[in-house]
Amino acid sequence: MRVTVGHLEEFPAGALKRITVDGLPPLVIGNADGTVFCLKDECNHGEANLSEGDLCGFELLCPLHSGSFDVRSGKAIKRPAKRPQVRFDVEIDDDGTVHVRSDEGPDAARDEEVAVRVTAGRHEL
Ligand code: FES
Repeated sequence: MRVTVGHLEEFPAGALKRITVDGLPPLVIGNADGTVFCLKDECNHGEANLSEGDLCGFELLCPLHSGSFDVRSGKAIKRPAKRPQVRFDVEIDDDGTVHVRSDEGPDAARDEEVAVRVTAGRHEL
């Protein structure tokens, strides 16, 4: 499934946004020094939204216990986070349209129109 989530202008450097897409868990999409990334928003250590955390370079810090993840790979960097965070591929068209690709969802093999809701994270610029 490939889902259009917005335009590059909506994801300025340092921004974190929570995005809800039908058929997927809530996502955090952000821009780390020009690299747009997408991870599952709920931290795999507890019940915190990473979209409310802090972005420091390519490191996303969880707001609850300060565990952290590398946004490029989802790999856990700092404890108490230990397991990699679920990561989704981001594709950007020449015109700046941003898409998230997922193998999850009810019909993952098909590109389709699905409802997308964007919620500004704490660090929207
Ligand atoms: S809930 Fe994220 S590190 Fe604990």
